[in-house]
Amino acid sequence: MPSDTRTPPQHVAIIMDGNGRWATARGWPRLVGHRKGAERVKQIVTAAPDLGIKWLTIYAFSTENWKRSTEEVLGLMALFSRYIEREADRMAANSVRMRFIGDRTRLDDRLRGLMDGIEARTAQHSRLNLTVAINYGGRDEIVRAARALAAEAAAGRLDPARIDEAALGGALDTAALPDPDLVIRTSGETRTSNFLPWQAAYAEYEFTPTLWPDFTPEELAAILARFGTRERRFGGVVSA
Ligand code: FPP
Repeated sequence: MPSDTRTPPQHVAIIMDGNGRWATARGWPRLVGHRKGAERVKQIVTAAPDLGIKWLTIYAFSTENWKRSTEEVLGLMALFSRYIEREADRMAANSVRMRFIGDRTRLDDRLRGLMDGIEARTAQHSRLNLTVAINYGGRDEIVRAARALAAEAAAGRLDPARIDEAALGGALDTAALPDPDLVIRTSGETRTSNFLPWQAAYAEYEFTPTLWPDFTPEELAAILARFGTRERRFGGVVSA
């Protein structure tokens, strides 16, 4: 448990909301908002290390997002593929390590191949750890982890009495990530929407009315500055 209550956030997680409203307000198709949102992702990823962020985790597609129109779902999947293809060289040059969390089994083979490829290609990098949540749902992640642990126990390789927080945390998609210190949600919604419910148990939350396509590195810097003035006690008491 961290003893320094005022360190800048190492791990920032973002629920990028508002792409659809941004486009609709301009009379444009929702996918235009997602494309603009992808440009923002690029900009925020570039700015993050200079703002002291080591870990950045972004919510790109939830397990519930399949309910959207086929056109929007396919458009988003194409956008993810394009992002990986177009940004691969830049990530390598800027020492960005890219990872994905979420259930990949429902994604198409081509996208999965690109995801596996960029994870392997950037595995040696460490300036920024960028994690993209695709087909991610926190409850789904916990169910999959519980199932994996149960399978180990049933096979006689794991004593159920030894299942503790570390064991469950280690079975989650985020096993290699520290817990987020700060979760930001754009677009004025004040829900957490199944994003990192286990990992964000002690995180601070920031909700901004800004729609994701309008979210700038300057606004991120202002949020981080505010975070620096908050006291995180992790259930303890303020030290004298
Ligand atoms: C939520 O806005 C946004 C999404 C479901 C998609 C997020 C995707 C991106 C930002 C684009 C690209 C991402 C990467 C990693 C390249 P919404 O559509 O729910 O907006 P609304 O609430 O206004 O309808």
